[in-house]
Amino acid sequence: MTAPPASRPNLGLIALGTYVPDRIVPNSDFEACMDTNAEWIESRTGIRERRFAAPEQYTSDVGVLAVRDMLARDPQALKDVDAVICATVSPDALMPSTAALIAMQVGLTGAAAFDLSTACSGFVYGLSVAQGLILAGTARRVLVVGAEALSKIVDQNDRNTAILFGDGAGAAVVGPVPDGYGFQDFIMGADGNGGSSLYLRCVAPTLPGGFQMGDSVGMNGREVFKFAVRVLGDSGTQVLAKSGLSSADVDWVIPHQANVRIIEAAMERFGLPMTKTIVNLDRYGNTSSATVPLVLHEGVRDGRIKDGQQLLFIAFGGGLSWVAGTMKWWAGTPSLQPEQLQAAGVTG
Ligand code: ACO
Repeated sequence: MTAPPASRPNLGLIALGTYVPDRIVPNSDFEACMDTNAEWIESRTGIRERRFAAPEQYTSDVGVLAVRDMLARDPQALKDVDAVICATVSPDALMPSTAALIAMQVGLTGAAAFDLSTACSGFVYGLSVAQGLILAGTARRVLVVGAEALSKIVDQNDRNTAILFGDGAGAAVVGPVPDGYGFQDFIMGADGNGGSSLYLRCVAPTLPGGFQMGDSVGMNGREVFKFAVRVLGDSGTQVLAKSGLSSADVDWVIPHQANVRIIEAAMERFGLPMTKTIVNLDRYGNTSSATVPLVLHEGVRDGRIKDGQQLLFIAFGGGLSWVAGTMKWWAGTPSLQPEQLQAAGVTG
């Protein structure tokens, strides 16, 4: 591993907030509109229910509510934030960016703002981009939001996709943390050859090569499954090696939540038991870029993730894309401390 320059600051998460919509949609709700059943969905995916945004609620709305959740426990959380990244695959519009719409509503008008489109890899990609902006001197602190209203872009009659996705958001501020804490390394990648495995039409009717896209999310589930199992194991192993770590050093694997069988396969590849990961897809389904902050926040809220512990992030998504990251957890600010969260009545 190349040693970082002595002047390089330690960067990590200094605030965290999340939001899921109120409406709970159990598996049984799909039985009326497609040839499926609740048991099939749970046994093949691990999902029991998911949340759907209200009809008038879009991605910027859920993103703003995640930021407000953070601010409720740490009113100073957005101090010195001068860039906003929104990782999303269900933006309100192509322009303006959802990031600019969120920034405007949380008092960050004037900050740089842009959307990041790597689907379910987006939040962790965003952490790495935020780190780069700060290290380059372009930004002091960066707000990274992973927000989705996937229920609006999925065909609710397509049993291949409708059963998998849910809505939600997570928001984090990247900034300076004490010595020995924070981000260690990231691995990011993408392969457009897999574009036709997971797609949603926007402007062009076809992908390069002529693959015809539809107007709602399309997916080759088996291809994505095989890809996911491979890249989660590979990128996780690579980033651990880059950080001089082995899987035995990892306290928590924080994985993208798409299918519990994918998470089980990744944990097996690392030689780690399922007790070293956190799963929330049973309650939220696949919320794409929101899954990682949602699961991270759950672990922090219920006290499982503790100060100084070693985290391993792994995610994959449309592109096809993948990302893995290592980080030493720092619980030093108000929105990251379980005691504060419990005192505020916010428990796991
Ligand atoms: N209900 C009942 N039966 C179904 C359903 C359903 N909802 N969907 C498919 N089936 C049927 C199939 O038609 C097939 O029937 P057949 O054998 O008669 O042809 C059978 O069930 C098995 O189908 P498979 O596709 O082999 O099922 P599998 O076990 O692979 O599960 C699933 C499908 C859940 C989609 C799985 O492949 C998966 O999770 N893939 C990964 C998807 C994923 O991660 N997507 C998110 C990407 S992240 C992002 O960026 C958005």
